[in-house]
Amino acid sequence: MPNNAITMSLSNIRLEVMQTIEKSMDGLLAKYIKPIEKNWQPSDLLPDSRDPGFHEEVREIQGLAQEMSYDLFAVLIGDTITEEALPTYEAWLMNIEGVDQFGANGWSRWVRAWTSEENRHGDLLNKYLYLSGRVDMREMEVSTQYLLTDGYDIQTGYDPYRNFIYTSFQELATNISHRRVATLAKKTGNTHLAKICGVIAADEARHAEAYQDFIKRIIQLDASELMLAFQDMMKKKIVMPAHFLRESGGGIGDLFSHFSDAAQRTRVYTTEDYIDILQALLKRWDIGNITGLTDSAEEARDFLMALPNRLLRISERMSTPELQYEFKWIAT
Ligand SMILES: [Fe+2]
Ligand SMILES: [Fe+2]
Repeated sequence: MPNNAITMSLSNIRLEVMQTIEKSMDGLLAKYIKPIEKNWQPSDLLPDSRDPGFHEEVREIQGLAQEMSYDLFAVLIGDTITEEALPTYEAWLMNIEGVDQFGANGWSRWVRAWTSEENRHGDLLNKYLYLSGRVDMREMEVSTQYLLTDGYDIQTGYDPYRNFIYTSFQELATNISHRRVATLAKKTGNTHLAKICGVIAADEARHAEAYQDFIKRIIQLDASELMLAFQDMMKKKIVMPAHFLRESGGGIGDLFSHFSDAAQRTRVYTTEDYIDILQALLKRWDIGNITGLTDSAEEARDFLMALPNRLLRISERMSTPELQYEFKWIAT
C-alpha cells in the first residue's frame, strides 16, 4: 500500500471512531457542559458599575492587588492572555477530523459549547485586571493581539486522538495553575481573586473530565492507534498554548520562558506538575493494563509507562532562574 493510502485508511478509521462517539453527544453535552442561564457569568464575580458602592469596591480590589507578589501578578496576566487567545483554539479544534462546523454535527456543537464556556475565563480575568490598577492594559492587549496573530502549533495536525490527548493534558494544567493562583491570592487576603480563579479552575476540571472521557472511549474502539498518538505527543512534548507569547518590541515567543520561569518560581505551574499530569492520565486511562495491541503500540505503551520516571530524573537536574523579569505588562 502506498504511504498516502495507509494514511487514508487510518484516517477513515478515525472518522468512524469520531462518528461512533458522536452518537452519545447529547449525553456528553448534558454531562460536561452547564446550561447557559444557570452558569456563572463574569459579572457575577465583579463589582456592578451601576452600584453606588462601585468605587469603594474597586478601591478594595486595587488595595489587595498591591499585596500580591510581582511574579504572581505576572503569571496571572500571562494566564489571562492565554485565555484571551481562545479564537485560536476554537479555530484549531474546528479543523480536526470528524468535526464538521458546516454540517453542524455533534462535534462542532461540542467545540462551540466548550469555547463559549472558556470565553468567560478571559472576560472575567481581563476585567479584574483592568480594575486592579496594576496593569498596563495597552501592553497586555498588544501581547494578546500578537498571540492571536502569531497563532500556535501544538503539533497535533488534524488528528482527533492527538488533539484530545492535548486538551486532556491542557485542561488539567490550567486547572492546576488557576487553582494555585487562587490559593496564593487567598494567602494575601485576596479572597475575591481566589474566588475568581476558583470558579475558572472548576470549569477547567470539568472540561478535563470530558476530554479524558473522549479518550477513554477512543481506547475502547482503537487502542493501538491511540497508544501511538499518545507516545507521539509525549515525544514531541506538550507545548503550552502561549508558547509564542511576546511583548511590544519583542520577537515571537520571546516572553514565554520568562512567563514560565515566573510560574516555576511561584510554584503556580512547574515541571513536576507536568509529570504529575502525565501520571494522572496514565492512571485514568489504565494505559499499563491495555493489551491486545499491535507490536509498535505495545512498545509505545511501555515507553509511556516508563516516561514519568525518566522525566523525574531529568527534572531533578533542572534549576529555576532566580532573576525576576520586568514585564511591560505591569505598571510601575
Ligand atoms: Fe480556560
Ligand atoms: Fe480550558
